[in-house]
Amino acid sequence: MTIVTGVTARVPAKLNLQLAVGPPRADGYHDLVTVFHAVALFDEVTVEPAERDTVTVTGEGASTVPHDGDNLALRAVAALRKQVRGANRTTGVRVSIAKRIPVAAGLAGGSADAAAALVAANELWTAGLPPPRLAEVAATIGSDVAFALLGGTAVGRGRGERLTPALAPATRYHWVLAFAEGQLSTPKVYAALDRSRGFGGPGGPGGPRGSGGNDFPPGSGGSRGVAPPGPAQPALDAALMSALRSGDAARLGRALSNDLQPAALSLYPALRKTLAAGLELGALGALVAGSGPTCVFLAASAERALELAVSLSGAGVCRSVARVTGPAPGAAVVPAQG
Ligand code: C5P
Repeated sequence: MTIVTGVTARVPAKLNLQLAVGPPRADGYHDLVTVFHAVALFDEVTVEPAERDTVTVTGEGASTVPHDGDNLALRAVAALRKQVRGANRTTGVRVSIAKRIPVAAGLAGGSADAAAALVAANELWTAGLPPPRLAEVAATIGSDVAFALLGGTAVGRGRGERLTPALAPATRYHWVLAFAEGQLSTPKVYAALDRSRGFGGPGGPGGPRGSGGNDFPPGSGGSRGVAPPGPAQPALDAALMSALRSGDAARLGRALSNDLQPAALSLYPALRKTLAAGLELGALGALVAGSGPTCVFLAASAERALELAVSLSGAGVCRSVARVTGPAPGAAVVPAQG
């Protein structure tokens, strides 16, 4: 008999190729239509039996990850425990997170860690929850956790947790990520968008427009025109889906869009320079990742991505860069060595 001492799962970062945001709902969330795309930038999460639940974090941005009950991976383990019968799950777990996905960067790193913890604990406890049940637990932890389980490219609706895999040819896309100094708070970026649309915030509904107008470089993925109140229900962009079906990176680059981008730029104006630099250097498209502040560029090939990454890091418009491909698979157990 093999004694399992610990289980490690690997999980990707996500991009939003489209992020269409509706008005604020009564529960404070926003209805979305988004096209998620997982990229090959992975965190690893190991779950081992322990007397009580603890978490340690190493790697990129480790000191800014919560180590208490706010940690999404710990919350995921606690939520799964409630769903699992049997002796194994009564033990605590030690969760060890090795981070490569920057924290609060718009890449859903915390959600990714929660998804990896779910997959690893499901295995450690031999709980055998099937993917749809794991996805239900995931949705209680955060809006992006279910997608981190699924990976690939998928349309998200509701808060982002209702997923439909996108049917697309097996095209590999080459992305360059420009990481920024500092972080952006997702709730603050949503709040800035709401203010710019005249919802809530200073001035209340219908009050003065905030500073989150559509101030972004031409050709980058912000919404077009002066920010009006958002549509009652956001809609999937047919041009983006058609570009994905064609596998044509140039078309995809032109179709990237993010309703949160003007709000992220209003809170972090220096990102305009980063987006503009990437476009000048030949990116097929550029946008802010989710709520930012990471900037994302699509390149025509692996070689172009390398050139772009080198030039961007030389241009002094970001903290560091990474080249990643997508789509990448969702959270999965890493086979034990030996
Ligand atoms: O679901 P999650 O905890 O990842 O969301 C973080 C924050 O992002 C929420 O507290 C909310 O402010 C905002 N959000 C939103 N609408 C969504 C998803 C997230 O307003 N659909």
